[in-house]
Amino acid sequence: MSFKTTLTRTWLTRSTKPFLFTKEYDEQLSFSDLDSLGLYVHIPFCERICNFCPYCKMPYSKEVCDRYIDALIKEIHKVGSMHQGKKEVSSLYFGGGTPALATDRLGEIIGAISEHFTITEGIGLELHPTNVNPDTLRKLKAAGVTKISIGIQSFGEKYQKILGRCAVDPESLKDALNEVLFETVSMDFIFALPDQTFEDIRSDIDKAFESGANHVAIYPFIDFTFTKSPVKAMPKREKRALLDKVTDYCSEKGYPRNSIWTFASKEEAVYSSMTRENFLGFGCSATTLLRDSFKINTFSVEEYCKRIDEDKLPTSLTIRFTLRQRMVYFLFWTAYSTKVDPRRFEEFFGAPLKRMYGFEFALAKMCGFITEEGGVYKMTPKGAFYYHYYENFYTLAYIDKMWGIMRKEAFPDKIIL
Ligand SMILES: C[S@@+](CC[C@H](N)C(=O)[O-])C[C@H]1O[C@@H](n2cnc3c(N)ncnc32)[C@H](O)[C@@H]1O
Ligand code: SF4
Repeated sequence: MSFKTTLTRTWLTRSTKPFLFTKEYDEQLSFSDLDSLGLYVHIPFCERICNFCPYCKMPYSKEVCDRYIDALIKEIHKVGSMHQGKKEVSSLYFGGGTPALATDRLGEIIGAISEHFTITEGIGLELHPTNVNPDTLRKLKAAGVTKISIGIQSFGEKYQKILGRCAVDPESLKDALNEVLFETVSMDFIFALPDQTFEDIRSDIDKAFESGANHVAIYPFIDFTFTKSPVKAMPKREKRALLDKVTDYCSEKGYPRNSIWTFASKEEAVYSSMTRENFLGFGCSATTLLRDSFKINTFSVEEYCKRIDEDKLPTSLTIRFTLRQRMVYFLFWTAYSTKVDPRRFEEFFGAPLKRMYGFEFALAKMCGFITEEGGVYKMTPKGAFYYHYYENFYTLAYIDKMWGIMRKEAFPDKIIL
């Protein structure tokens, strides 16, 4: 852990106490009295493994996938039954991996969830471009999916090759997306690839909206230490210039930024599984945040299924946040939406934001990272770039270390960050 990371953590959490994740965990989860609860389901199978991808996944096998889904449904019932009656939740997101590989069992999974939860803001699901055909889309829609996110990465042949991805035909995407309609059609792109120019990204954005997207996510490439990608991250100055041009272009075209990485052509188009104040995650590698307790399920599909067979939760690690650690976590993910409302902070923590982090917000205002409008802090394009920059930095300092260990050990004793 670098000196800078430790210093920032110490400053913001007002303590030298590190983030400590340990093996001990709760068999009983309590979420009955929580509002703003979201759900996430992880499906860790892919037809082909991409060398740049850090997520928890393995090559698809029907047999393993079926055994996994059986366990997943048991985990949903086990956790869901910890609340009497049906609990209202905002959203349900399916991520992976490639969740569409389990399309034929999606109805069963959503059915299990619906026995315990009422979803008020729709169901989102991540798709690989090869899944975007009318037949699969119709099945997803029939199962209740209302938002989709397609991992394009790039329409350009050069970058598809660099990333080891297959060609994507925008015309066939368009035909399929015209035939089966969804509230949000998001497309993911990776930027800051070697020699990538603004024109390359502009062409990707144009093709996305022309072929049926109403939302795009533009992620800076992150070079995780445990992935085998030969691609190296772009230097900061070039990345900044690219991101500024992307932001200006999207704004000119009428696609305002609606979160750090996303731009949308209509206000209702949203796709975000990360910004919930509390969430329950099901499946391997899924995380759960309930008040100040954050837990991560094991990354091993085999061990996940074993724990469920033993009628135990598949939790691998848990951290009990201190109040300040929880505040930093809250602010980090709220800022992802590019806005922080001090009233919500006070409702959540019972303490005014100005008293807890007044100095930091004044400093951010002075540096031009945020403005204050109607009592709400809004991130400027400069602030968005620095958020990108620090997010990248912390992803490498924290997530890279954690996932690097969890990919190798199903139940590590502890991880200190
Ligand atoms: C879990 S992946 C799912 C996408 C889907 N399975 C696919 O490949 O089309 C979610 C998104 O994370 C982004 N992503 C994956 N690896 C990344 C990396 N090393 N740096 C930046 N973004 C990455 C990609 O844009 C990807 O679409
Ligand atoms: S990018 Fe998508 S398809 Fe590729 S390995 Fe990751 S989850 Fe699987």
